[in-house]
Amino acid sequence: MDSPLKDMTGTIVNKQYKLIKKLGAGAFGEIYSSQSNGLEYAIKIEKSDSKHPQLEFESKLYHYLNNHNGQGIPKYYGYYSHDGYNFLVMELLGQSLEDIFSENNRIFTLQTVCVLGIQMLECIEFLHCKQFIHRDIKPDNFLMGKAQKDRVYLVDYGLAKRYISKDLHIPYKDNKALTGTARYASINTHLGIEQSRRDDLESLAYVLMYFLRGSLPWQNLRANNQKEKYDRIMEKKLATSSETLCKNYPQQLLQFVDYTKNLKFDEKPDYQFIKNLFISIMQENELRMEYIYDWDDEDTQRDKIQIRNDEKDNLLKTNKQSSNTQQRVNKYQENKNLNSNSIYMRNCSNINNKYSIGRTKTNSIGSINKVVVTKTKQITNNTINSLTNQNTLPNNNNNINNYSKLHQNLAKQIIKKHSSLHYQ
Ligand SMILES: Nc1ncnc2c1ncn2[C@@H]1O[C@H](COP(=O)(O)OP(=O)(O)O)[C@@H](O)[C@H]1O
Ligand SMILES: [Mg+2]
Repeated sequence: MDSPLKDMTGTIVNKQYKLIKKLGAGAFGEIYSSQSNGLEYAIKIEKSDSKHPQLEFESKLYHYLNNHNGQGIPKYYGYYSHDGYNFLVMELLGQSLEDIFSENNRIFTLQTVCVLGIQMLECIEFLHCKQFIHRDIKPDNFLMGKAQKDRVYLVDYGLAKRYISKDLHIPYKDNKALTGTARYASINTHLGIEQSRRDDLESLAYVLMYFLRGSLPWQNLRANNQKEKYDRIMEKKLATSSETLCKNYPQQLLQFVDYTKNLKFDEKPDYQFIKNLFISIMQENELRMEYIYDWDDEDTQRDKIQIRNDEKDNLLKTNKQSSNTQQRVNKYQENKNLNSNSIYMRNCSNINNKYSIGRTKTNSIGSINKVVVTKTKQITNNTINSLTNQNTLPNNNNNINNYSKLHQNLAKQIIKKHSSLHYQ
């Protein structure tokens, strides 16, 4: 690691971006917030004479991923070199998951872990489909958005590596030094085996168990030097069975850990299988299929749930007024644009087989729509059938009232659970 940079506050990068405040420092660089023409940016800085320069590589990768409409990738604005420093200008994001975790009593609920887990997986899946692996999956490298503050982003591509070269998977190698962060490194990485897609996913599994448990069994081990420390961590990781790691948590997590550990070196992971594991945890535990997090204050959580309930009410009103299905569907679309927090309406329109569910600008989790369709099918079918047959909403529809009550009770329970966690 190079020596820390001097305070760069006030420096102007490329006669354009003024450095405002240091936001973070990792092993390889420092990050500042910056302003230009009233807009905010983040700038990662490295000394030009750094022993292991990597910012240029990282900026090329950000650029490449941006060109492919990257999901969970901060926007890239440019790379500059002057006055002995290299600068990478990108979108300003929010806090890292590690920082948020520390501010939340170092524990996350299953709700938060599932909603984060699906998005973190999707960030990794996107990178993998662009032929790169990350090799440093850890909570510090996942950030919440700023413009889109409920979304998760993956940063820090300094250690990323292309795993497909000339259409072929890179060859198996061993005897490699550990690249990444020992706490979250896969067992094969400890053993010196070349990393591939499976190792990013095993690390993700450890990160999620860290969030749920509060710590991992191989933290805080005594050692006299770094080599000894890495060895202790590896020994403890090998000695900890997946069952022990995941004891007292939903069995799908054990399946996830074991699945990643059993992937072959060049095997393409089944990302959908892993997503389905999270979805089934959410269903079994009646969790909210929305971006609801432990760190949302009570008002925010209530708002997110309220928006969804309002939207449902709008739907019912709309149905009362409209005389045919097409009009109703048009109204759904209008309402959806006004109130973008719900998955409910998209599912209704899909049940009519008129419109397919796509990734839209909603506050719900795109990838879990399919399952929600199955879950809400009964009530929406009842609703739609009764409407299609009668064209008006029955005055006293018990089904709908019960459904609404059920949701409100669930919402209350969740708010209660979350607020008690906040103030523990
Ligand atoms: N685009 C960004 N917006 C806001 N903060 C960021 C951004 N990128 C990084 N950070 C903060 O800076 C820290 C270090 O950045 P990172 O790219 O991970 O550097 P390193 O390679 O040194 O670990 C991150 O953990 C995060 O807290
Ligand atoms: Mg980092």
